[in-house]
Amino acid sequence: MDKSNTTGKIAFFDSGVGGLTVYKEVKKLLPYEDFLYFGDTINMPYGEKTQEELIKIARKIFDFFAAKDVKAVVMACNTTSAMTYETLKDDYDFKIYPIIQSVAKVMSTLPIERLGVFATPATINSHAYAKAINKLNPSLKITEIACPAWVRIVEEHRLNQPQSLMQIKERVNEMLPYNPQKIILGCTHYPYLKDIIKQFYPETDLIDPSKHFAQYIKEDLTASGLINTAGKGSEHFYVSSNPENFMTASKLFCELNQTPELVTL
Ligand code: DGL
Repeated sequence: MDKSNTTGKIAFFDSGVGGLTVYKEVKKLLPYEDFLYFGDTINMPYGEKTQEELIKIARKIFDFFAAKDVKAVVMACNTTSAMTYETLKDDYDFKIYPIIQSVAKVMSTLPIERLGVFATPATINSHAYAKAINKLNPSLKITEIACPAWVRIVEEHRLNQPQSLMQIKERVNEMLPYNPQKIILGCTHYPYLKDIIKQFYPETDLIDPSKHFAQYIKEDLTASGLINTAGKGSEHFYVSSNPENFMTASKLFCELNQTPELVTL
C-alpha cells in the first residue's frame, strides 16, 4: 500500500468489544476517515494465550486487513501489543499502532511516584508497561496485577453478578497495599468496568489510555501526511463469531448501528 495514500482505511482489532474504547476516541478526532473494526471473538480471551498463538492470530488479522486497502492498523489491544508487535512490526506496508508503546511516553511523565497497572495475565507476565515506562522514568514505582476473569465479565455481560463483583474486588484488594496514586487500565476491556473498580478503590485515579492513544495516532498520521480531510467517514465491523453477542456486549459502552459481519480468518 502506498504510504502517501490519505484515503486508505484505518483498521482496528481486539479480541472483542474492548477495542471499541479506543475506536470511539479515534473516531471523535478523525471524523472523515473510513474505519474497519475486527473483534476476534472466537479467540477471546487473548490474555490467556501463548506468545506463539498470539503471533499466529495477529498475523492472520494483519493479512486480512492488508487485502482491504488500509493505511494504518490500530492494535486496540494491550495483549497483542505486548506479545506480537515486535515480531510483526516490519512485515507490513502500512502504519501499525500498538497501544502500550504509543502511550508509554505520556505515562512516564505523570507527576506521581507510585503507578498501578491492571491488565491480562499475558500483558502482566510480559511486563510491557513497566519496561516501557521505567525505561523513560526509572524512578516511577510500578505495581502490575493480572486480572484473568475480567475480560469474560465484559464479553459475557455479567457486570452486575455477585461473582463478577467478587472477582473484581479480589484484584483491587491485591493492589491496595501498594497504594498507587494512579492505575492504568491496561486492557481495553477494563474501561467497561471503571465504575465497579472505582467502587472498591475510590481514592485512586483510573487511567483509560485510549484518549492518549487516539491523540498519538492523530498526531502521527498528521505528521505522516496521511489524514483524510475530504472523506465522508464510514465504518464496517467484523467478528469471528457470534455477531449478536458482540452487539449486546458493545451496548454497555456505545451503540453500533450495524450488526458486524461474520468472517473466518
Ligand atoms: N482487550 C485486550 C487487551 O487490551 C484483550 C483482552 C483478552 O482477550 O484477554 O489486552
